[in-house]
Amino acid sequence: MSGLLKSSIGRKFAMALSAFFLMLFLLQHFAINITSIFPDNGATFNKMSHFMGTNPLIQYVMQPVLIFGVVFHFVMGFILEMKNNSARKVSYAKNNGAANSTWMSRNMIYSGGFILVFIIIHFIDFWFPEINTKFIQGDWSGLHDGEFRYFHELQHKFLAPWRVGLYVLGFVFLALHLLHGFSSAFQSVGANNKYTRGLKGFGKVYAIGIPVGFIIIALFHHFNH
Ligand code: HEM
Repeated sequence: MSGLLKSSIGRKFAMALSAFFLMLFLLQHFAINITSIFPDNGATFNKMSHFMGTNPLIQYVMQPVLIFGVVFHFVMGFILEMKNNSARKVSYAKNNGAANSTWMSRNMIYSGGFILVFIIIHFIDFWFPEINTKFIQGDWSGLHDGEFRYFHELQHKFLAPWRVGLYVLGFVFLALHLLHGFSSAFQSVGANNKYTRGLKGFGKVYAIGIPVGFIIIALFHHFNH
């Protein structure tokens, strides 16, 4: 593993694998969160959240793997950017900016950096309180005043306009990041065949569809509570 990470191709490959894993997570995260706008007053969302929040496989296996994946992706992203910059000092004159790369591809570090800020705020909003309730206070009931608490907690978080604005900005950066990241990840694992065009099309739908869906969720809860 450490041998793989020593070569530039190995690092790009590992970066792409962590990206695929995070894209799968994002899809399931979206699939669960979109149920919070179903017209059943949070019943489906509460059931799903309670299952995910108390299932031992998810809590003790998938969750640590996910957190490792998130940290790995950020750290590796910064390492790749630093290595690219030092390599560029030699050949920048020939390989200059807009002529042969898109704005999005050159700014992955900035869109990624803003997503990091978003993730930290998002963890403070949702994940740390969950960890505190379950692992520190030892309350796995999922209840508050005799009712499931997840839906009310979610609605409560989207009351403040500044937070909704920040989340929406985070989702816009997520779309920019995914627009380049999706096809770049496939390129890094060597996928270049008759399906490439179809994959690129699917990548665009994913990169725009998922963040727009998250924006709808945030705005929905801001305006309906
Ligand atoms: C409106 C949009 C979103 C809502 C309502 C939302 C909601 C939540 C909630 C309720 C949790 C706590 C889950 C738990 O641990 O029990 C959570 C955790 C988390 N969210 Fe989000 N999320 C949104 C968007 C995002 C986005 C765009 C990302 C990534 C870029 C993201 C990444 C994560 C991660 C990594 C965790 C911690 C892992 C876990 O699920 O345990 N979320 N989110």
